[in-house]
Amino acid sequence: METNNINIEEIVRQVLSSMEGRTAQGAGASAAGGSAADSPAIPRTAHVAMLTSLEHFDVKEFPMPEVGDDDILVKVEGCGVCGTDAHEFKKDPFSLIPVALGHEGTGEIVKMGKNVKKDSAGKDLKLGDKVVTCMIFKDNPDITMFDLNKQNVGGADVYGLLPDDDIHLNGWFSDYILIRKGSTVFNVSDLDLYSRVLIEPCAVLVHAVERAKSTGILRFNSRVVVQGCGPIGLICIAILRTMGIQNIIAVDGEQGRLDFARQLGASGAVNFKEHKGIEALAGAVENVFGGHLADFAFQCTGSPVAHSNIYKFIRNGGGLCELGFFINGGDATINPHFDICSKEITTVGSWVYTLRDYATTFDFLKSAKQIGLPIEKLITHTYPLEQINEALNMNLSMQGLKIAIINQ
Ligand SMILES: NC(=O)c1ccc[n+]([C@@H]2O[C@H](COP(=O)([O-])OP(=O)(O)OC[C@H]3O[C@@H](n4cnc5c(N)ncnc54)[C@H](O)[C@@H]3O)[C@@H](O)[C@H]2O)c1
Ligand SMILES: [Zn+2]
Repeated sequence: METNNINIEEIVRQVLSSMEGRTAQGAGASAAGGSAADSPAIPRTAHVAMLTSLEHFDVKEFPMPEVGDDDILVKVEGCGVCGTDAHEFKKDPFSLIPVALGHEGTGEIVKMGKNVKKDSAGKDLKLGDKVVTCMIFKDNPDITMFDLNKQNVGGADVYGLLPDDDIHLNGWFSDYILIRKGSTVFNVSDLDLYSRVLIEPCAVLVHAVERAKSTGILRFNSRVVVQGCGPIGLICIAILRTMGIQNIIAVDGEQGRLDFARQLGASGAVNFKEHKGIEALAGAVENVFGGHLADFAFQCTGSPVAHSNIYKFIRNGGGLCELGFFINGGDATINPHFDICSKEITTVGSWVYTLRDYATTFDFLKSAKQIGLPIEKLITHTYPLEQINEALNMNLSMQGLKIAIINQ
């Protein structure tokens, strides 16, 4: 762990704050702000995994910051590794280096300012509560639940993708994070750790299913194809199953992923590698549905070929939700006559989520557990913070599903 990047200003601030000699408070004793390091349960320094160069994190030590009247200091329990983190690790497309990454995090409130009373959904907040964050509204700090369904996270600030500043505790790949005024925070104490780590990716699928429902085609007894069984497609299947949809066919080329798709609620599976050509593949899907094409399909791969293929699985008058291209994956070829016009297909795109979807996700995770879907098995590999570089490399190797940093 490195300390050499702490600047003089921070050291001076730390020394001054320790000289002020405030009365020490237990972590559970007060919700008042002030120097977090004054609480005996809170260490004087925090550790943050900073991406300091391409493909390299350093775990750096910083002074524990002041907790302002509107701030929340959270002891981080864990954080999922996202495709966006992997992208930043490899290429820094957002030019953020040095940056504290990690946006799929959760942890426990250890100190909070006197103005912090409720979460963004109006639930009480107290020390010891388990929380997640969503977007940060710097320009609109008083946003309320009433506004939640209007705001899509695309383009908003989130912890884990912020430029570095003099506080440094800006990402969830850390042991402490400082949540500041204008952030949306949710009290999710009623969810277990792995469920809380999965909230952010699950919100992507809650949004996609809401978009699909807006077509009016996705119904209780629909036949649905989910193409792509990475974490995104697998969560899609679990959400559909939780909604009561029974006829779900998973399509992928990895047999292990197709097997897991069945555990998460798929009623059938088609391995595209076993069928040569799109006609044969579409025939296999039709066969598994007992001689029917799909009423609705979710495209959950970043492959242009997969986009071209998916129209062939859908019946006349059916629907499609395309959510696989979070980033530009290139152009895809379709036949406008056969694929869309003459079939009267209704298509929707889906990109990230709104705050409303975030709140819905908490209920999805509880419902999935109630019907016995092993959603926590999506987390296949966990690493301590010190092994953040190994965690990112495991994510890039595509050997697991969801990789997570779990603090001991
Ligand atoms: N819409 C959004 O807001 C949003 C958010 C996050 C991720 N995504 C996108 O979702 C996609 C999936 O994410 P993931 O984490 O599950 O990725 P992943 O790479 O783990 O999974 C993709 C799966 O698709 C399968 N696949 C590839 N080509 C296929 C084909 N021709 N037919 C059938 N299956 C095929 C692969 O075998 C793999 O299992 C990514 O491309 C990502 O950009 C979108
Ligand atoms: Zn993510």
